[in-house]
Amino acid sequence: MLDFDWKNADCSIIGAENGLDVKKEFSLYKDRVSGIISGLYANKDKPGQWLAWMNLGYNEALVREINEYALSVKGKFENLLVLGIGGSALGGICVTEALLKPYRNINSKPRVFFVDNIDPDCINGLLDTINPDTTLVNVITKSGSTAETMAAFMIIADRIANKDNIVVTTDENKGILREIADDMGYKSFIVPDDVGGRFSVFSAVGLLPFALVGIDIAEMLRGVRDMDKALQNTGVGQNIAAQNALIHYLMDKKGKNLSVMMPYSGRLRYVSDWYVQLWAESLGKENDLRGNRVNTGPTPIKALGATDQHSQIQLYNEGPNDKLINFIRVARFDTELRIPELFRDTGISYLGGKTVNELMNAEADATKIAVTDYKRPNVTITLPGVDEYYMGQLLYMLEMQTAIAGALYNINTFDQPGVEQAKNYTYALMGRKGYEKEAEELKQKLSSHI
Ligand code: PA5
Repeated sequence: MLDFDWKNADCSIIGAENGLDVKKEFSLYKDRVSGIISGLYANKDKPGQWLAWMNLGYNEALVREINEYALSVKGKFENLLVLGIGGSALGGICVTEALLKPYRNINSKPRVFFVDNIDPDCINGLLDTINPDTTLVNVITKSGSTAETMAAFMIIADRIANKDNIVVTTDENKGILREIADDMGYKSFIVPDDVGGRFSVFSAVGLLPFALVGIDIAEMLRGVRDMDKALQNTGVGQNIAAQNALIHYLMDKKGKNLSVMMPYSGRLRYVSDWYVQLWAESLGKENDLRGNRVNTGPTPIKALGATDQHSQIQLYNEGPNDKLINFIRVARFDTELRIPELFRDTGISYLGGKTVNELMNAEADATKIAVTDYKRPNVTITLPGVDEYYMGQLLYMLEMQTAIAGALYNINTFDQPGVEQAKNYTYALMGRKGYEKEAEELKQKLSSHI
């Protein structure tokens, strides 16, 4: 199992001004947290609660269906091109980066590419690189209409002659992409009801691209299930997702409302991007559940060890003491890399004979000790290794942590009116039918703002 260590958030280590009396807080919040966890599990099957992500680890039929499809297209394509944005892309990027061999696109097939933005130079650059005839395109959008994804899809669809080169992941019944997929006879998979984009990594949104590039999705869901079973424990002392949610919530009350995600692993670098979306879009809310205006939400920040020791750590150590740092450690890397004993009579000879593994973990220890010396709260999640099983555990734990934190803040964790507003403004500015009134208002605003 993953290990979670909160002791550097405790007042016994970093002092009462910056730390929490963690055990006392666990005891004070025991009933509230237990009620939240029981409530999540009691409501997970109820339509409209947006908790169906809690069931995704148990969908063995979907694993079979996806693996059968992946087998049927195995060896037929040189490239997998995934089109999606936000929750329809970040889980895919995070997991493929973590689990596929680094730099595999250079000499393994299928190469995998994600288009999750609409920079014309980037898309043109990709189109210059791949042959559409030998590319399988997985277009993913829950709403079936997101402008960025649909624009990229239209560009690619125009270059693809064979409908079997396109596989769609979208709502079962609703949305423009569903209509198109049915009309064109594209193979399709379903984004289930009551699963929001940022909680969809263990639905077909993530599982399909993972299986297409050889990731063992059954093993990943085994990790999800094991974590889910552990997190059913309603005692905060035994529930690591509840512990980190509560620590974040209480640190926010102490003025530490910036949540840094800092894995000490290059392969886990996009866990930070995925977490940033999950935390920001879920917890940044204008109103609480009683309708009070609260404008609440901790701000997530992405960082990477050891790289950001040479940039952000200066701020974390000596700048405002307003952050809670989440370190992620990897206990066992897949490979070992020894540093040769060169330049023996120089100041770098101490590195010779050591491993890069040792160096990485020494850097992680050094940073942890330094930020703690500066009385900056930090917690550490340790993964025994980077594989399907532990990635399933990690992402599911962070999802549950977010759901519990949302309940502590008493906000709706699962809506995103701010994101919808930006989508609607884009539709209006681009002339989508039905958005004429907004288009007129936006034109007036544009002329007065610019
Ligand atoms: O979490 C969310 O709901 C959003 O980030 C969506 O995933 C994102 O806006 C993409 O939406 P869609 O899948 O409808 O294209």
